[in-house]
Amino acid sequence: MGSQVRGLVIKHAEGTGSESLDNILGPVVSAGKMIRSGLILDLGTAVGSRPLPSLLSAAAAVELLHIASLIHDDLIDGSDYRRDAPAVHISAGEGISILSGDLLLARGMRLAQEAGPAAASVWQGAFERLTLGQLAESRLSLSSAETDFLSYISLKTAELFAASCEMGALVLKLSPSTVDQVRSFGWNFGMAFQLLDDLLDLLGDEEVLGKPVETDLPNGVYGVAAIRVFTTSGTALEEALKANQFSEAYVLLRNPDVVFYCLDLLEGYVAAAANSIEQALTLDKARPLVSWTEGYFKAALKNGVRAEYSHLLSSHWGRGK
Ligand code: IPE
Ligand code: IPE
Ligand code: MG
Ligand code: MG
Repeated sequence: MGSQVRGLVIKHAEGTGSESLDNILGPVVSAGKMIRSGLILDLGTAVGSRPLPSLLSAAAAVELLHIASLIHDDLIDGSDYRRDAPAVHISAGEGISILSGDLLLARGMRLAQEAGPAAASVWQGAFERLTLGQLAESRLSLSSAETDFLSYISLKTAELFAASCEMGALVLKLSPSTVDQVRSFGWNFGMAFQLLDDLLDLLGDEEVLGKPVETDLPNGVYGVAAIRVFTTSGTALEEALKANQFSEAYVLLRNPDVVFYCLDLLEGYVAAAANSIEQALTLDKARPLVSWTEGYFKAALKNGVRAEYSHLLSSHWGRGK
């Protein structure tokens, strides 16, 4: 079913009225990891559902919202490439990138409606929160509390994961308490996902990731690592940032204790995700999703981190397993 979702996403990204824009958007939209829609499909498999057209619509609807947010995010962040290709604002221009994102949102909205009114309302809530999260970014600073930062990543990232799982659970007609637990699985997964992405900004290999690394600090975007260094290690980070010495600033973030702290936080969300899905589906049915989730984060770290920084992971992730 994954390939059907990809096909549906491509179909909704083309038909822009311009062959050259179709040729830009087609490859861009088809190249994602499709994690959010994958969770919806996995949920269907876990509960033994037959392939439902409304599940496919929900899956494609969340991917279109996600891709639109990335097209807009790259313009906001000034990121030049994504998914191993030039970002849409580079290949098609800034104005066209805004409109392309809008088009995907409009079409995503229609697909969400095809998944049913309850699913459409959840999709709308995720879109609103994602936008509020992106708006919150500029209000955060190095002296922000970690809880403020976690609320920001909840809005911009975890809410869409939560919504994806909730939409899947609604389409599958699971009980209200199960819908809540499945939503909680998605939210915890999404929190871990953004913490991983933020960690890869300081440790990642851009060849593997297909997008630039070491861009958050120059963009004034601070994560748990930066906030942790700021609160525990004096003024060195602030001074390096003031002087635009970003390489020096990243060296400070790659402190083993700081990386350890971030990994601990991330693992806590992965464990909470596993716990939620086990409660939702019972141990047996949840097992494949739990092992996929744990395996995903371990592999993403192992493969995504540059070889020269891999020693920072070895003392921590999966210890004792
Ligand atoms: C990137 O999401 C944006 C974040 C929320 C960190 P993905 O890592 O899922 O991006 P694609 O869809 O695979 O390109
Ligand atoms: C995720 O944040 C963006 C959205 C949720 C729209 P990032 O800015 O960290 O994502 P990347 O690193 O550009 O993929
Ligand atoms: Mg970005
Ligand atoms: Mg990022």
